[in-house]
Order: sequence, then structure tokens, then C-alpha cells
Amino acid sequence: MKETILVVGATGMLGMPVARQLQKDGYHVRVLARNPDSAKTKLGDSFEYFKGDVEDPASLEDAVDGCYGVHINLRGGPKAEDFYRIEYGGTANIAKVAASKGVRRLTYLSGAATFEENAWFPMVKAKLQSEKAIRDSGVPYTIFCATHFMESLPLAVKGKRAMVIGKQPHRLHWLASSDYAKMVSKAFQLSEAGNKRLFIYGPETYTMLEAMNTYCKIVHPEVKVTSVPIWLLSLIGKVSFNPEIQLIADLMGFFEKAGEGGDPSEANALLGAPTTTLEQWCAKQRGGA
Ligand SMILES: NC(=O)c1ccc[n+]([C@@H]2O[C@H](COP(=O)([O-])OP(=O)(O)OC[C@H]3O[C@@H](n4cnc5c(N)ncnc54)[C@H](OP(=O)(O)O)[C@@H]3O)[C@@H](O)[C@H]2O)c1
Repeated sequence: MKETILVVGATGMLGMPVARQLQKDGYHVRVLARNPDSAKTKLGDSFEYFKGDVEDPASLEDAVDGCYGVHINLRGGPKAEDFYRIEYGGTANIAKVAASKGVRRLTYLSGAATFEENAWFPMVKAKLQSEKAIRDSGVPYTIFCATHFMESLPLAVKGKRAMVIGKQPHRLHWLASSDYAKMVSKAFQLSEAGNKRLFIYGPETYTMLEAMNTYCKIVHPEVKVTSVPIWLLSLIGKVSFNPEIQLIADLMGFFEKAGEGGDPSEANALLGAPTTTLEQWCAKQRGGA
């Protein structure tokens, strides 16, 4: 049995594959959850569960105590203040507790567009502040600036329609969460991965429309892919007072401008380059459906 790692946000879409990979690689994995019973229903009996909320530092103490590492997978929003409160405030609380308990490695999922010039967008500002809180804690860290995950494609399918919002001209290196999870696990095993900010890209590029067409052709041939202007989704969000819809419109407006930045070569050399192609990933989804 290797050391103990706490995963914060293990019930999340991108936290769960990391928790499972760490366990597969022999770590003892703890899960911090606001509702441990529902987390257990989702993840199964093989993890050790701790009840806690990242907004309440005292509730993190027991879960962090005795851990070699902590992995942070948090999502803020939908409103700007929620990004600061949950993702930044929560990360800062964990980093402080981790430092006080002598944790040896913090890993954190940031984004491939997390740059100062994009700090006008609340999600990016919260991620930049989270990264700073981690660096300031003094705990050796590995920050994962990951690009768009293939796992986000199914989220755009509603019934017999899939929506691509906006023109989305950038070619993106779509990433499978299983490849990313292996890289996170490896980062805990390598001292050279300490105090690094790494860009994580998949092996091929597709625009959002190309990726969605590929996904639907292989997994949901009955689904029609349509393009929706950002202004229309934003209007629907406003008139329906739905902050989640408004956030998706804002996010898509941001992605259309920002694309992805950074260079993945250091991450690939240290942790092994992602290999899963979009077609391979889609074929697996079809098999699992
Ligand atoms: N989708 C992409 O392509 C992509 C690309 C790069 C980066 N990212 C980043 O990936 C991150 C994670 O995304 P995701 O899809 O995994 O999000 P998600 O599915 O919404 O998961 C978020 C997790 O945070 C936990 N959480 C929220 N508030 C909490 C609190 N107060 N205390 C403790 N736990 C709390 C949730 O636990 P509960 O079970 O309690 O709700 C859940 O496990 C986001 O920051 C996103 O920006 C995404």
C-alpha cells in the first residue's frame, strides 16, 4: 500500500477518474464529501469517506491529517461570486490546512486558458487566485492546466439535438480524463513534478464543431448537431433568469476568444503524453452505452 491521498471533488466529472486511478496505482484514497452517503453511492465502498465542506476549514482537518497528498477538483459558479467563494476560497482553505498538516504534494485542476490576460473572466480570475494560494502555502504542488475534456461533449446533447454554441474557431487538443488521471497519479510519484505548472493536451486537434460531429456520428448517430449563436443563448438565460444557462453562454463567449495556451511538452516528458484519440474515446462510450 502506498501513501494516503485525499481527493476533494471526487464525485465530480473530472475528480472521479483521478480517485479511481490513484486507487488503481496502489494509493489509499480518501474522499472529502459534503454528503458522504451519496458520495459512497456514486463511488462505492473502496474509498475512505470524510464529511467536509471546503468553505469550512475546521471540517477539513481530519480528512487532511496523515495525508501524503491532496488533489483538488472544484468547480465554482454559476455566478462570479461563487467562483471566488467555492473554487478560490475552498482551494485557499485546503492549501492552508494542508500546510499545517505537513502534506507533501498538492495537485490542482486549473485550465489551459488560465493566464493573467484572461483574468477579466471570473472563472479564470478565481483559478489564478487559487494557484497563488497553493504556491503561497509552501506545499510542493503540481498544477494541471488542462485543455477541453472529451467528457464535456455528451453534456451538449439534449434529446435528439446537440448544440455547439458560437463560432468556436479554435482547434483544441481534446483530452480524455483517463489520460489526465494517469498523469495526476504519476505526479504524486515523482519529486521532479513538484512546484510545476503543466499544460495538458490530448494527441489531436479538432474544432468544437468537428469534435461534436465526430462524437455524435460514433455514439449518437440519431442526434442532429446544430450551431446556436452565443447572443441567443445569453438572451434565453436572461429572460428565464437561469444563471446556469447564462454561465454556459458566458463560458462559450470566453472559449471563443481565449482558445488554449501554453506548451504541453514538459508535462508529456515528465508524466507521459496522453494517447487516447477522440475516435477511440467515442468508440469506448458507444461500447459502454
Ligand atoms: N470540462 C472541461 O473540459 C474542463 C477543462 C479544464 C478544466 N476544467 C475544470 O475542472 C474543474 C472540475 O470540473 P468537474 O466537471 O469535475 O466539476 P463537477 O463535476 O461539478 O465537480 C465538482 C466537485 O466539487 C465538489 N464541491 C463543490 N463544492 C464543494 C464544497 N463546498 N465542499 C466540498 N466539495 C465541493 C462537488 O462535490 P459534491 O458531490 O458535494 O457536489 C464535486 O465533486 C472545474 O474547475 C473546471 O473549470 C474543466
